[in-house]
Parts: sequence; structure tokens; C-alpha cells
Amino acid sequence: MAAGFDKDCKVVGSVLNLGFGFTTGGTVTLSPRPGNPKPRMVRLPEQRAVMNSMGFPGQGLEPSVKRLQSSQRYKDRVLVSISGTIEDEIFECLRRSQDFVSGIELNISSPNTTGLRIFHEPARLRGLIEGLVSVKKVPLFVKLPPWPRDDENRRELLKLAATAVDAGVDGLVIANPHPIESSRLQVGRGGLSGAPLFEHTELMIADIQAQVQGEVAIIACGGVSTGEHVWKLLASGASAVQLYTAFIYEGPGLPARINKRVSKLMSAAGITNIGDISGEPPSIR
Ligand SMILES: Cc1cc2nc3c(=O)[nH]c(=O)nc-3n(C[C@H](O)[C@H](O)[C@H](O)COP(=O)(O)O)c2cc1C
Repeated sequence: MAAGFDKDCKVVGSVLNLGFGFTTGGTVTLSPRPGNPKPRMVRLPEQRAVMNSMGFPGQGLEPSVKRLQSSQRYKDRVLVSISGTIEDEIFECLRRSQDFVSGIELNISSPNTTGLRIFHEPARLRGLIEGLVSVKKVPLFVKLPPWPRDDENRRELLKLAATAVDAGVDGLVIANPHPIESSRLQVGRGGLSGAPLFEHTELMIADIQAQVQGEVAIIACGGVSTGEHVWKLLASGASAVQLYTAFIYEGPGLPARINKRVSKLMSAAGITNIGDISGEPPSIR
């Protein structure tokens, strides 16, 4: 499960029991936040997509840490996403939560939260990550914004990824929702997630894999809803896959259905290890 579903880490065990291999609580910020004015989440059912401009509503770090502390039996399969607009807030989130999770996802890329873009500046991102790396005891992932196909922004964002890797992260999460403008959201803009993203997620994973060459783990996120999608992203170089929007449309049975399908595809391809997935998924019914 991707970040944003369980913002205050209230249901990590229940999410895992549906069949998700791991779940990412948060995004958690140091202090409570009301988020953006509503409407801030709009369904686009024909496209199996969602527009959101949530802006990190949440209870703040302390209640999440308490809940993670009492969910220790799930710790091996729980990450927590943290964010903030100044370095010290983010350091504090890492310091206080890391004993209770198996990894930290740093979110610098919500399209809906003013103040986060400062960390799109490579020198500032490097400083932040190096600070986190010096105190971290668990793997640190950075979730990046999606990059468009056009060259200039793509180069800029790939440079950001290179900076993160160089500064010592253990993995990259590719990616957050795609920026979108809409008068149906109170603040006029937000992020698009769901089915329309998948094809682009696949391209970005191939792009980033070519750049990092196995140096760090890649977690793919954006538009995933089937076992075939999971197969394709793992074959393109992802080590793990997350989803959120498809769960909104398809309900709690989705992770189990995807697991079953991946397992069927693997049997058809004659492989037993998920790490051996490569090429196109076999076409079976
Ligand atoms: C309502 C909503 C809230 C979200 N909140 C967060 C968040 O707090 N932190 C974060 O890193 N991503 C957040 N996301 C982004 C998702 O984690 C994910 O990157 C994105 O939705 C693309 O995946 P999907 O197409 O499977 O939904 C949110 C997405 C949605 C739809």
C-alpha cells in the first residue's frame, strides 16, 4: 500500500492482512496539519483515476509513533512516510519513528503542499539527505515527483534522483501523483493518480533503472491495478511495487487478486522466485 491511505498509521495491521506485502504509513509531519480546504479529493470513475489536493492533513508525529509502537508485530512490513518544510522537522520525524518501522520514505514531492519544492533544489536535497543518512538506522527511501517526457524537466528530475543516490539513500520511490490543474479542487490544482499513470510509470522505471544500474532499490508506484502491471514493473527493474488508487475502485480484495495473478503468471513462466521475473508477462487467461 502506498503512502496517503493510512495517514495517521491507524490500520497498518489490517492493511497487511488484506495481502499487501508491505504498507507505508503517513505521510506524517511533525505537527498536526488541517490540510487544504475541501473539496480536495475528486473521483474520475471513467478513467479509474483520482485528483487530490489533500495537502498532508494529519494528527502529527506523536500519535502515529504511538500507534506504530503498539503495532510492533508488523514492523518488518511497515514503512513510514515523513515530510516537512524545514530540515529540523524532518530529522525529528526520522529520529522519533525509525525504531518502530523497517524503513523511512522521505516525501519531498507532494504536488499539493506548498513549501516542499525547496527540496527540489539539488544542494538543499543533498544537505537534507546527508543529515538523515548520518542518523538513520533503517533503510531510507526518497519519493520523487514524476518527470514528464519532455527533455528539460526530465533531465532536472533525473539529476535530483542522482543527487539522492549520491547522498546515500537506499532506494527511490517512483513516483508521486502527476500535477494537474482543476477547478473541481478548491485550491485549483493537485495530483492525478490511478490508471492513466501506468504507462508513464513503466517508462520512468526503465529510465531510472538505466541511471542507477542496481545501485539502489526502486519502488514503482503509479496506476498499478493488475498482476500484469506488477510483472512489467518488476521486469523493468523495480524491486517492489505500491498502489493506492486502484484500491479505491476495486476494494479490499485487490491485493489478494493481484498476488494470485502474479503467482499464476510465474507458474506459467516456470519461475518460482520473484527476482527472476523478466520480459513480458506470459499471456494466459
Ligand atoms: C488521496 C490521496 C492521498 C495521497 N497522499 C499521499 C501522501 O500523504 N504521501 C505520499 O507520499 N503520497 C500520497 N499519495 C500518492 C500515492 O502514494 C501514490 O504515489 C499515487 O497515488 C500514485 O499511485 P496510484 O496511481 O496507485 O494511486 C496520495 C494519493 C492519493 C490518491
